[in-house]
Amino acid sequence: MSAVIEHGKLRQRADYTHKHNTKTGRHGWLRLTPAYSLKIVDDLIIEHCEAKRIFDPFCGTGTTALCAAYHGREGVTTDINPFLIWLATAKIAHYSARDIAATTNAAAEALNLVKRSAVEPVPAPPIFNIERWWNPNALLFLRLLQAAIIKATPDSSSERSLLLVAFCRTLIAQSNVAFNHQSMSFKNNDQFALELDVDMGSSFAEDVRFVLSGASLNPSGTGCVVFGDSRQAGEAVKGKFDLVITSPPYANRMSYIRELRPYMYWLGFLNNGRDAGEMDWSAIGGTWGVATSRLTDWERPKEHFKSEHLSNALLQIAHADNKNGALLAKYVAKYFDDMWTHFRGLVPVLAPRAELHYIVGNSTFYGSLVSTEVLYAEMLAALGFECIECRPIRKRNSKKALVEFDVVAKWKSG
Ligand SMILES: C[S@@+](CC[C@H](N)C(=O)[O-])C[C@H]1O[C@@H](n2cnc3c(N)ncnc32)[C@H](O)[C@@H]1O
Repeated sequence: MSAVIEHGKLRQRADYTHKHNTKTGRHGWLRLTPAYSLKIVDDLIIEHCEAKRIFDPFCGTGTTALCAAYHGREGVTTDINPFLIWLATAKIAHYSARDIAATTNAAAEALNLVKRSAVEPVPAPPIFNIERWWNPNALLFLRLLQAAIIKATPDSSSERSLLLVAFCRTLIAQSNVAFNHQSMSFKNNDQFALELDVDMGSSFAEDVRFVLSGASLNPSGTGCVVFGDSRQAGEAVKGKFDLVITSPPYANRMSYIRELRPYMYWLGFLNNGRDAGEMDWSAIGGTWGVATSRLTDWERPKEHFKSEHLSNALLQIAHADNKNGALLAKYVAKYFDDMWTHFRGLVPVLAPRAELHYIVGNSTFYGSLVSTEVLYAEMLAALGFECIECRPIRKRNSKKALVEFDVVAKWKSG
C-alpha cells in the first residue's frame, strides 16, 4: 500500500468541486454542496475506456451514473435518500422531442393558471420556521405554482418531473437562503431586500428553459438509479461492475437531509422533523435530530473494524476537553463501522480486477486529525484489495490541513 502524504503543493481547485457542475447541462439542474465535480468523474471514465458497467453506491445527485451514461456506458447507482433517487432518475431519463414540447406547453399553462389564480394553492409545506425561508409573496407564488404544475401535467409524466425540477430551482432562487457556506444559511436582510424585485414568473420560466436545454441532450448509454442501502449493495443491484467511482459521506457531521429539506418538504418526501431524523439515522454519517439521541445509546458491534489508528483517534476525541467528546467519538466510530460494512458488502458485486475510486476528505475533531483515507486503505487491504493508493486531489480549506483524496484500489483477479 502506498499513501502520498505530501500535501504542501496542493491547491484548492474550484474545478474539482460541485461549482464546476452548475453550468453543465443536467449536472447543473440542482445544486448539492457535497456533490463532487463532474471533471473528476469524467477524467476517470475516459481513462477507463474498458469499463462497461460503472457503479456508484452513494448516488447523491447522480453525477457518476449520468456521466457514465453520457460516455455510452452503463451507470448504476444507489442511494438511501428517496428525493435523490427521484432527482437522479429524472436526470438520467431519455426525453423525446415530444416530451420537451409538451413540457414547454405545460409550463406556459401552469404560469397562466398562476397569473389568473385559477388553482387552489397547495398547503404550505410543514417546514420549521417557514417564514424564515420565504416571504409571504414568494410562499404564495410557490404554493400556486406547485398546484398549477400538478394540474397542467399528467401523473408520473416526464412533463411533471421536468417542471418539478425547475420548481426546485425556483424555490431556492426565491428563498431567503444563501449557498455560500458548506451548509445552507439564511441571508441577511439586506441581501433579501434586493431579491424582492425579481419577477417570480420569469424566474420560473428561465428555470424551465435551463432544465429543458439539459433534457434535450440525451445520454447514449444507460443509467439505473436504485433506492437501496450501500451497506448491502448485493441486495440492491444485479451483476458485477468493472469500475466504482463514488464519493461517500464524509465523517464531518453533515446531514444531507438537513441540506435537502426545502426540496424534500415541498415535494412531499418529508412531512415532519421526526421522519427527517429517522432518515438521517439510516444514512451513513447522519447526525440530525433523533439521529443524535440514538447515538447516545449506540454501542459498537463486536465485529467492528480493528485499527490502531482509529482506536487512537477515538481515544483522543473522547478525552478532548469538551463535554461532547464521548458522543463525538461514538459518531466517528459508527461512521467507520458503517463504511466497513459497506466495503464488505461491495465485494460480491465486483468483477475480477475491478477498480475503485473513493473521493473522500479527512476530518478534524477538536484538533485531532482523523485520516479517513488511511482508514479506508486499511479496510481495503484487510479485504484483500491490491494496488491501494491514497492520491491527494485538492486542499479543501485554506487554513486547516483538510485534504480531499482519491482512494484507489483494485479487486483481485478472481
Ligand atoms: C457525498 S454524497 C454523494 C454526492 C455525489 N457524488 C454527487 O455528485 O452528488 C453521499 C451520499 O451518500 C448517501 N448515503 C448515505 N448513507 C447511505 C447508505 N447507507 N446507502 C446509500 N446511500 C447513502 C447520501 O444520501 C448522499 O446522497
